[in-house]
Amino acid sequence: EMAEKQGYAHFMLKEIHEQARAVKDAIHGNLEIINKVAEEIAKYEKIFVVAMGTSYHAGIAAKYLLQRLANKTVLVEESSEFRYEFEDIVDENSLVIAITQSGETADTLAAIRLAKKNGAKVLSIVNVVGSMATRLSDLVLYTHAGPEIGVAATKTYTTQLTVLMMLAIALAKKLNTVDRKYLMNLEKQLQELPKYVEVVLGYENKIKTLAEQLVIKRDFFYIGRGPSVATALEGALKLKEISYIHAEGLSAGELKHGPLALIEDGVPVVAIAPTGKTFEKMISNIQEVNARKGFVITLGDNEELKKVSQVFLKMPKIDELLSPIVYIVPLQLLAYHLAILRGNDPDKPRNLAKSVTVE
Ligand code: G6P
Repeated sequence: EMAEKQGYAHFMLKEIHEQARAVKDAIHGNLEIINKVAEEIAKYEKIFVVAMGTSYHAGIAAKYLLQRLANKTVLVEESSEFRYEFEDIVDENSLVIAITQSGETADTLAAIRLAKKNGAKVLSIVNVVGSMATRLSDLVLYTHAGPEIGVAATKTYTTQLTVLMMLAIALAKKLNTVDRKYLMNLEKQLQELPKYVEVVLGYENKIKTLAEQLVIKRDFFYIGRGPSVATALEGALKLKEISYIHAEGLSAGELKHGPLALIEDGVPVVAIAPTGKTFEKMISNIQEVNARKGFVITLGDNEELKKVSQVFLKMPKIDELLSPIVYIVPLQLLAYHLAILRGNDPDKPRNLAKSVTVE
């Protein structure tokens, strides 16, 4: 087992550090097939995304990508809800995108079966080759992340996001839904993703120090807007899964509608704030937290954030739509180091399984 960990203390840490490579493989592994798949799904106006756990968060990001780049209407549903609620809604004019690392999650398989029964087209985004989801679906895109041993998903999430981004770009090209120049710029940045991931992996020592500061905290909040909602949800999930600290991820607009009542002196709030459509709105949310003396940690590329943060993590400048792939990495590291400081085994979190094959 030590050999398989290649010198890392845990599989999870190894898998976090593999992400530059994994994202690169996801890009290269799909370059040829992506346009063919885009061709096959371009006509669908109703898109349902079904998934659970971390894959569900990739689905949330996918919604923003497909909406902004391909002008599609996208509904993201937990597979466990979809399978019981969409019987009379999903039909032959629907495209169902199932996202599943293992390809064996019981609820997601049930959602795929329902979609097939109702005549929908099913595209699966899967990591495990030959898994059940791949056999039930009309179309499959692989994430090419390699085996993931840690129960908490890391490299399979960033590669899911990579594939979904490629799909959204391919659709936009085909449908002519966005400015060509902008699209070319996105493609260029996509190619550079492994480099950006490498850069943020270099923040590990800083994050370890941050974890030492935060180890005594009981509740965390993660806030973001737009595609960063996915990062907020996933950052919070990582913390819950392996460090057993209570965490909530939410869209920053919801802050005022309840969670703000829980912010008091020293409560950590992680604000995911890349430059983009809603940056200014994020700044005002952060100020609201500051006014209640919350402990503000910001991730972003704009130095303005420094003035409103206790801790500012300077992120590479990257389009907001691609940012979830880079921004989640420091949050994975934060969850990992908090788990270690609390004496937990991050590879085998209590009560959780790598793949939930019973309902
Ligand atoms: C379990 C795992 C998660 C995973 C979820 C969905 O809860 O612990 O890491 O995100 O299942 O799994 P899937 O294989 O369908 O992506």
